[in-house]
Amino acid sequence: MEYLKKIQEKKARGEKIVMLTAYDAITARILEEAEIDAILVGDSYGMVKLGYENTLPVTMEEMLIAVKAVSRGIKKIPVIADMPFLSFHISKEDAIKNAGLFLKESKASAVKVESTESNFDIIEAIIKAEIPVMGHIGIVPQSIYKLGGYRVQGKTEKEAKRLKYIAKKLEEIGCFAIVLEGIVSEVAKEITESLNIPTIGIGAGPFCDGQILVIDDLLGLNPDFIPKHAKKYAELYKIIKEAVINFKNDILNLKFPGKENYF
Ligand code: KIV
Repeated sequence: MEYLKKIQEKKARGEKIVMLTAYDAITARILEEAEIDAILVGDSYGMVKLGYENTLPVTMEEMLIAVKAVSRGIKKIPVIADMPFLSFHISKEDAIKNAGLFLKESKASAVKVESTESNFDIIEAIIKAEIPVMGHIGIVPQSIYKLGGYRVQGKTEKEAKRLKYIAKKLEEIGCFAIVLEGIVSEVAKEITESLNIPTIGIGAGPFCDGQILVIDDLLGLNPDFIPKHAKKYAELYKIIKEAVINFKNDILNLKFPGKENYF
């Protein structure tokens, strides 16, 4: 597929790959106009837009609505859909069916699967069904209870060895790229150098082939939580709140609607 090749060629040329998450049509349109390489509809949708405490409650139905909305907002760039918790854990058949729904119904071009040594066979089955898969290792938020929280990975030799093994295996079974989340930067560097497929980092340092952020973190939409790995490029929470207060005050002071706003 053309877009997979494009992302992979960027690695070969040593050009950085730029990705962001989006969950709605207008944001997707903005990201496409800004010419980023690909959009991920992450299951972070559940936390940043639906108000869940973590990503575990997110359903296929919710993800399909968000991926459809994003696809409606764009014309060219690829959309990658995140497989939510329990959408690929039960059986290979279930995993293929759910991954396929993202391509059939919501025009995604690929899916992302949080990857551990327990699901290589499932990922391989999805790929064999002609569905491109992006792997995801390190902090895999769907496994927070097993991992003991959002703990940076790769701090010990044993952890680093495990991550390198999983990454290599994902390349071997045919993933077209891998997200490295919350991984010690030196380990992310070694993984990146050991693979032909691109690595996309989030909290994994500067040596990954590309970077991704949750769009809400970049826009400053959440005043309560700024993860260390994120950089705020705007203060939208403040801007939106000020706009709403100005609107309220205009109504109370009989300044809105003005003559230009009614018929
Ligand atoms: O769900 C998500 O948005 C993600 C990214 C943080 C990579 O998995």
